Amino acid sequence: MSNNLLAGKRGIIFGALNEMSIAWKVAERAVEEGAKITLSNTPLAVRMGTTNELGGKLNAPIIPADATNVEDLKTVFEQSQELLDGKIDFVLHSIGMSPNVRKKRTYDDLDYGMLNTTLDVSAISFHKMIQAAKKLDAINEGGSILALSYIAAQRTMVGYNDMADAKSLLESIARSFGYIYGREKGVRINTISQSPTITTAGSGVKGMENLYDFAERMSPVGNASADDCANYCIVMFSDLTKKVTMQNLFHDGGFSSMGMSAAAMQQFIDGKK
Ligand SMILES: NC(=O)c1ccc[n+]([C@@H]2O[C@H](COP(=O)([O-])OP(=O)(O)OC[C@H]3O[C@@H](n4cnc5c(N)ncnc54)[C@H](O)[C@@H]3O)[C@@H](O)[C@H]2O)c1
Repeated sequence: MSNNLLAGKRGIIFGALNEMSIAWKVAERAVEEGAKITLSNTPLAVRMGTTNELGGKLNAPIIPADATNVEDLKTVFEQSQELLDGKIDFVLHSIGMSPNVRKKRTYDDLDYGMLNTTLDVSAISFHKMIQAAKKLDAINEGGSILALSYIAAQRTMVGYNDMADAKSLLESIARSFGYIYGREKGVRINTISQSPTITTAGSGVKGMENLYDFAERMSPVGNASADDCANYCIVMFSDLTKKVTMQNLFHDGGFSSMGMSAAAMQQFIDGKK
């Protein structure tokens, strides 16, 4: 259902790989709410994934870019303004990747070259993206920039590995740049800390299915799905949240405020028998 919350707005969605991707759902909802958008992902992901299918369906041009490459990011902002015929109102950073997780290196046996890549792809790319946009003055006054995070930034979650450090940095960048961009241009920057979600990146996390089940049992209103996350992103892009900035917003069915739930306790008791 559309409420025209993004009527007349222009946005850029980074990270829609396939229809499980959180960014895919956000792109669909943004267009449904009246926005015009461009899509971006790595050249390899565009070739191998189904981003083209989404672009066709939403009439959204695709601009391939490696989010660790500043020149690529500048091109995304320049071309998006041309193609969408004006400055950008909202941006979604939905990007994450850890070579250490992929290669099953444990946190006490990290490869530091790979750690640099984890931080660059999953966190510093957010800084590069915002800096590129600001230098080009590509974002409208009151615009909204979002990245997706996870509670492992604050609390140790088994198996999340060096992605936890990347998410801490990501959330810090939202605060540090949120101050500067807000003060100078009224642009707000936030992160949404999402429930475990079954996606390509999510499935790479060791023990993801159990983590998902545990979070579901712990959360009073259950895990937030990718569709739920898309709805939250739309509200954050809209003018209804003009004074929300520099926040890490938990979107997790209440998980982050729980210590122990009856459902998780029952599972624990059953497991001891
Ligand atoms: N799935 C979960 O459980 C979960 C929970 C909380 C937060 N998140 C976060 O949500 C975001 C989206 O992940 P998802 O779960 O939708 O998985 P996904 O695999 O669909 O999306 C990850 C995207 O990152 C892109 N990417 C990787 N390296 C890149 C690079 N160098 N440049 C540009 N793009 C690059 C991939 O191509 C892919 O499109 C990530 O930041 C992830 O950490 C996911």
